[in-house]
Amino acid sequence: MLDDKHGLLLDERPRRSHKALHLLGATALALVALSWSPFAPFPRRPPNAPEILAKCASLHVPAGPHPDFFSRAVSDRFVPGTKATLIRNATIWTGREAGNEVVYGDVLLDGGIIKAVGTVSGVVLRDPNVNEINAGGKWLTAGMFDLHSHVGVFSMPDSRGASGDFMSSDGPVVPWMRSIDGLNTHDASYELAVAGGLTGGLILPGSGNAIGGQAFAIKFRPTAERTPSSKLIDSPLGQTVVDRNHPPRWRHMKHACGENQLRYGSRFDSAWAFRQGYEEARRIRDAQDAYCAKATTGKWDEIEKVEFPYSLKWEALVDVLRGRVKVNTHCYEAVDFDQIVRLTNEFKFPIAAFHHASEAYLVTDLLKKTWGGTPAVAIFATNGRYKREAYRASEFAPKILAENGVPVVMKTDHPIINSRDILFEAQKAHYYGLPTNLALASVITSPVIAAGLDHRLGYIKEGYDADVVLWDAHPLQVGATPTQVFIDGIAQISSPYTVPGVKPQTAPRTPRWDRESAAALKYEGLAPLEPRRRARAVAFVNVGNAKERVSVLNGRVVQEHEHELGRMVETIDLQGGHIVPGLISFGSRLGMEEIASEGSTSDGSIIDPLMAGVPSILGDAGAAIRAVDGLRFETRHALLAYRSGVTAAVATPIGLGVFQGISTFFRLGEVHALAPGAVLQEAVALHLTIRRPSASLINYTNGLAIPSISTQIATLRRLLTDNVQGETGRLFTRAAKGEIPLVLTATSADVMAALLRMKRDLETKEHGLHLRMVFNNANEAHLLAKEIGEAGVGVILTPIRPFPTTWDERRIVPGPPLTKETALTILLRHNVTVGVGIREEWEAQHTRFMLKWAMEESSGLLDEGGALALATSNIAKLLGLDAAEDTDFVAYSGGLWHEQESKVVAVLSPARNVVDIFS
Ligand SMILES: *[C@@H]1O[C@H](CO)[C@@H](O)[C@H](O)[C@H]1NC(C)=O
Ligand SMILES: *[C@@H]1O[C@H](CO)[C@@H](O)[C@H](O)[C@H]1NC(C)=O
Ligand SMILES: *[C@@H]1O[C@H](CO)[C@@H](O)[C@H](O)[C@H]1NC(C)=O
Repeated sequence: MLDDKHGLLLDERPRRSHKALHLLGATALALVALSWSPFAPFPRRPPNAPEILAKCASLHVPAGPHPDFFSRAVSDRFVPGTKATLIRNATIWTGREAGNEVVYGDVLLDGGIIKAVGTVSGVVLRDPNVNEINAGGKWLTAGMFDLHSHVGVFSMPDSRGASGDFMSSDGPVVPWMRSIDGLNTHDASYELAVAGGLTGGLILPGSGNAIGGQAFAIKFRPTAERTPSSKLIDSPLGQTVVDRNHPPRWRHMKHACGENQLRYGSRFDSAWAFRQGYEEARRIRDAQDAYCAKATTGKWDEIEKVEFPYSLKWEALVDVLRGRVKVNTHCYEAVDFDQIVRLTNEFKFPIAAFHHASEAYLVTDLLKKTWGGTPAVAIFATNGRYKREAYRASEFAPKILAENGVPVVMKTDHPIINSRDILFEAQKAHYYGLPTNLALASVITSPVIAAGLDHRLGYIKEGYDADVVLWDAHPLQVGATPTQVFIDGIAQISSPYTVPGVKPQTAPRTPRWDRESAAALKYEGLAPLEPRRRARAVAFVNVGNAKERVSVLNGRVVQEHEHELGRMVETIDLQGGHIVPGLISFGSRLGMEEIASEGSTSDGSIIDPLMAGVPSILGDAGAAIRAVDGLRFETRHALLAYRSGVTAAVATPIGLGVFQGISTFFRLGEVHALAPGAVLQEAVALHLTIRRPSASLINYTNGLAIPSISTQIATLRRLLTDNVQGETGRLFTRAAKGEIPLVLTATSADVMAALLRMKRDLETKEHGLHLRMVFNNANEAHLLAKEIGEAGVGVILTPIRPFPTTWDERRIVPGPPLTKETALTILLRHNVTVGVGIREEWEAQHTRFMLKWAMEESSGLLDEGGALALATSNIAKLLGLDAAEDTDFVAYSGGLWHEQESKVVAVLSPARNVVDIFS
C-alpha cells in the first residue's frame, strides 16, 4: 500500500464546488414538479416540456469537470495495455504551493494518471509488469503546456497544402470557426515539441480576425486512432446543449485586436466588429433567458409554437457570455487593452489571457479592471520589436507583471517560436528577473490554469494526468533536456539519448535587474540603451580568467606599471566574471532595419536581376549592392545585442530573390557610420540565396517568378567563369579567384551538392579557379558533411537549433534526446569550420545562451573556447573578417560569458580607445 508516513503524499485533491450545479438541477426538478401543481396555469404544457426545462437548466451549468472526475481510477485517455511506470528517486517539482513545493521521492503512473507521489513501497499494482525507472535524484516536472500554439494548423514543413489552415478569411467576426477542423496530424512539430518536454497545447486560430473562432486543447502524442479528435483534452465538442448531470467542458476562443485587424479598417472598425458580434450574442442569450423564464414559470401558452432561441453561428459567443469559454485575446498596446477591457465590462465576460501583450506590463492597473478578474498574460521572453505595436516589448515584462500580481505565462505562438524551445522562454524570463517558482509555473501550471485544465494537468499530484518529464538538469538551466517524456503514462521517446556528464541540478542564480526594470517602466519600454558612461581608464578587479586585476587604458589592457594608477578613474568588480572577445552576429537584418514589418524603418529590398528589370540607370550593378550604403545604427535590436555581449555584426542587403549583394561588418554600439570604428570592414563577402521557386516568390508587378534552381546555378556559373563585363562581372571574377568569400544560402542537401559539383568543376585545371565558399542556413549540411569537409567549404548554421520550416529543411538532425548527434557535431567531426547565425534581429540578444546550449548538446565535443569560436573566430575566418582583430572585448560580472549567473558590465574597445560601461 502507499506509505505516506513521511507526509509526502500531501493529498490536496481539488474539489470544485458543484453546489451551483446541483442547485440548478434541483430547481429544474422543482419547476417540473411545480408545472404539475394545480395552482399553476399551464393548460397546454407541451409533451417536450421536460426537454425544454432540462435545456433551460443546462444553460446555467458552469463549465468544468464532472464531480466523478476526481475519483477516477483510470484516465479517459488511457491506452489499454500501457504498463504502469514507477519513477524512483526524483526531485519533484509538484507545481503546488505557488510552485514552491519540491518533494524528493517516487512517482507512480498507472491507468494514465499519477497514482502516487512520495515514497511508494510495496504497492499492489494493477499491472505487475511495472516499468521501474531510477531518476537518480534528478528533476521531474509535469509536462509543459503551450497556451498559444498553432501546431497542426500551421504545419511543418511549411507548404501550401498544410500551413494555411490556421484561420478563416470570412470576415472580422467568425466565432463559429474551429481550429480542430484544420488540425493536421502529420505536422513534424508534434514529435519535436514532445522532445522538448511540451506535452500539450491550446491550438488557437490565427489572429487575422477580431473573433477568430474556437480553440482546442490537445496532447501532442500520436494516437492509435491517428485522428485530430483523439488528441483532444476534455473535449467540449457536442456539449453545447448540456446534460445537466454532465457539466460542459471549458471551451476556448481566440480574439485579436490591433494591427492585425487593419485589413478590415481601423481600430474603430474592429472595436465595432467586436461590439456588433457581442450584441448579437447578447440578444440571443437574453431571448433564451426570457424563453426559459416563461417555461420555468409554466407560461407555456406564451411560448407555444416558439422555438428555443438558438443559432449555430452564435452559440459559442453566447457561451462566452454565459462564462463557459476561456477567451484568449491577442492584444499588444495600451489602446487595445483599454478597448477590450471596456468591451468585457460592457458585455460582462471574462478574459482568460492576453497574448503577446507587449505593453501589458505598462498597464497592470488596467488589466485588473477586466470584467471577471485579472487575465493571465501570455508573452514571449525577448521576441519583440517585429512590428510597431511590439516596439515597447521588454525583457523585464515577466518580472514586472509578476510583481504586480498578474499571472505570467510564457508561450511560443508556434511556429513563431519553435514550440520545442518553450522552456527557453521560461529560462530567459527567469534570467531577466522572474522568480524561479513563477518561471517554472509559467510553462507548466500557469498556462493550464488559464486554460481551465488545472484539474488534470500541470501538477505532480495524485489523480492528475500522467504527463511527466524527467530532466537531466534543473529545468531553468539553459540546455536542460528531457531524458524521458510521458504522456498519459506512455513513454514518448523510444530510445532517449542522454548527454553524458553532470549537469547543474539547481536553478541558476540570476543577476539583479531592478534598475533596468524600473527604467523600462519609467520610459514606457524605451529606456535608454546606450552605455551609462564611457571611460578611458578602468581597473577590473576579481577577474576570473586573468590575474586578479586587469587594468585598461584607452580600451586596451595594459601593465599597471606603464602608467600611473592615479589615472584609473574607475574600478569595476567582476565578481569572478571573465573578459572575452565580443560576439559577432550574422544572418539577420540587424543593421538594415529597425522594425521588421515597418517598411519605413528598413533599407528596403534590392532589385533582383533574375526577378525584375533592373533599371538601366543602375547598369549592371544589380548584384553589387553594398550593405554599407544602407546601414542604420542605434536600433534597439542592435543596442540590446550590444548590451548582451554581441559587439559587431555582418549585414547583407535585404534581398527577396537570388542576389543578396555585398555584406559589411560593423559595430553595434555606435551612433552612425562615420563614427570612428563604426564600420569595421566595408565589403565582406558576396552573397546569394539559392531558392526554390514557389508561389510566394512571384513578382506580381512584373509577373516574373524566381527561375528554377538549375537556372540560378547556371547564372552563378556563368558569372564566375565568363569574365562578365562591368561591376557585377568584376565582383564575381574576384569571388572566382577567392579574393572574396562567396556565401551561398541554401537549405537542401541537394542544392548544396549541386553547388559542390560546380565548385569542383571550376577548380579543375581547365578553369583554375579557387572559391572560398560558405554555406549559410544549411539545415541539411550534415548529410554532406564529408563532402563539405573535403571541399574546404565552411558552414554557418542559421539557425543553430534546427527546425523543418520548409520542405528543404525537413531532414534535420534534431539532437538530444532524439539523437546523439546534432548538425553541428557531425560537421565538426568532419573538420568543417562552423559558425552560427540567427534569422531575426531579436535573437542576437541571447547569442551566448544559444552557444551554451550547443555546447551542452555536443557531448563534450565543444569546450567553452569551441563554443565561443562559433560566433567569433570561426565567423571571422569564414567571412574573411580581417578587421575582427579590431573588435571589442566584453566584461561579464558574476559568472562565465555563457552562464545565466553573469551579466555584461562593460565593453572594452581598443580600436576606439574607450570602455563602454553598463553597470
Ligand atoms: C538517489 O539519487 C541520488 C543521486 O544519484 C543518489 O545519491 C541516491 O543514493 C539515490 N537514492 C536512492 C534511494 O536511490
Ligand atoms: C518587381 O518588379 C517591379 C517592376 O519591374 C520592380 O520594381 C520590383 O522591384 C520587383 N520586386 C522584386 C521583389 O524584385
Ligand atoms: C580532421 O582533422 C584531423 C587533424 O588534422 C585529422 O586527424 C582527421 O583525420 C580529420 N578528420 C576528417 C574526417 O577529415
